Amino acid sequence: MEAITCIEDLQRLAKRRIPKMFYDYADTGSWTQSTYHDNENAFQRQKLRQRVAKNIDNRSIKTQMIGQDVSMPVALAPVGMTGMMHADGEILAAQAAENFGVPYTLTTMSVCSIEDVAAHTSSPFWFQLYVMRDRGFSESLMKRAKDADCSALVLTLDLQVLGQRHRDIKNGLSTPPKPTPAVLIDLLFKPRWCWQMLQTKRRDFGNIVGHVQGVADMSSLAEWTASQFDPTLDWSSVDWVKKHWDRKLILKGINDVEDAKIAAGLGADAIVVSNHGGRQLDGALASYDILPDIVDAVGDQIEIHVDSGIRSGQDVFKAMAMGAKGTFIGRSYIYGLGAMGKAGVTKALEIMHKELDVTMGLSGETDIHDVGRHNLILK
Ligand SMILES: Cc1cc2nc3c(=O)[nH]c(=O)nc-3n(C[C@H](O)[C@H](O)[C@H](O)COP(=O)(O)O)c2cc1C
Repeated sequence: MEAITCIEDLQRLAKRRIPKMFYDYADTGSWTQSTYHDNENAFQRQKLRQRVAKNIDNRSIKTQMIGQDVSMPVALAPVGMTGMMHADGEILAAQAAENFGVPYTLTTMSVCSIEDVAAHTSSPFWFQLYVMRDRGFSESLMKRAKDADCSALVLTLDLQVLGQRHRDIKNGLSTPPKPTPAVLIDLLFKPRWCWQMLQTKRRDFGNIVGHVQGVADMSSLAEWTASQFDPTLDWSSVDWVKKHWDRKLILKGINDVEDAKIAAGLGADAIVVSNHGGRQLDGALASYDILPDIVDAVGDQIEIHVDSGIRSGQDVFKAMAMGAKGTFIGRSYIYGLGAMGKAGVTKALEIMHKELDVTMGLSGETDIHDVGRHNLILK
């Protein structure tokens, strides 16, 4: 096999190995996908200042996110149906993150349940909450996350209704996949995936099936979302969450300065500047493009993280230089997982780590805490 040197290599391999419906589910944005693509382009557009003849020995990219030590400022973002990208995907990704010293965030819409991931890891992970119409069920999710020793709750605010992703509809996305002729033909070419899936029992939405009365089949994510996610979710809901969650709280999905100001006043520990990886409001600004305004508005009040479009350690460097205190990656590790399971997630993290470290050095810096806008070409 060719040497894997960048996230794009993992993406290509994942595309070959994962059934089309799940690969497409990851590699897509909503409607015209303009925000999806612009997220990546925004990082590409940013140029860096090259500095030379500085002693760049003994570099460190270690820091903290919400008070937690991290080997680099990168957390694994919550990704629905991770366990369909590779059998037992959430457990494998959480283990890879734990070994690497970065936080793992388990989505509400995972295949492996909160309890299952906790049973197969030893350091606390973070849990991402989607607030459901059935607030009792959301409360029970928070209780289960506390019982599983989750150290932070990531409350997602940008998905009260689902942004349409054309390919998911055309592919008939479901978990587990329905055996249509097109799916069966596709599976013939994905023997490794099929074999691994046959070895596991984890093929449903583990946090939900068996925990909500009357829910035996919720295979269609889109239908479930439409019927169960709470469209009335508003800023007062953050107070409601805080009544049930007394540990660290991160508000995810802020992509506007006014919203950032409101969010910063709610007593959370961090916000994630995010447009959900271009999967929700198509036409929204790239997260990296709104980041400087949000940093300037509330950066002295609350810790700011960013995601959407990060495909390299260089992108992490740019985000940190722009004023973020941490980043999340979604597709970058999901491609690793789909390509090579746990080893692939580790590979993705290694790639990011090296790129960030070398970029920092070539920018003339030795400590990630010293990185700033002086490292960027700002016009
Ligand atoms: C396939 C996929 C599924 C996702 N599922 C969730 C989810 O369940 N909960 C959530 O808060 N965000 C979800 N997201 C958004 C990610 O947490 C993150 O914001 C996004 O992936 C960042 O963009 P990037 O993929 O370009 O790094 C998902 C993203 C992808 C690609």
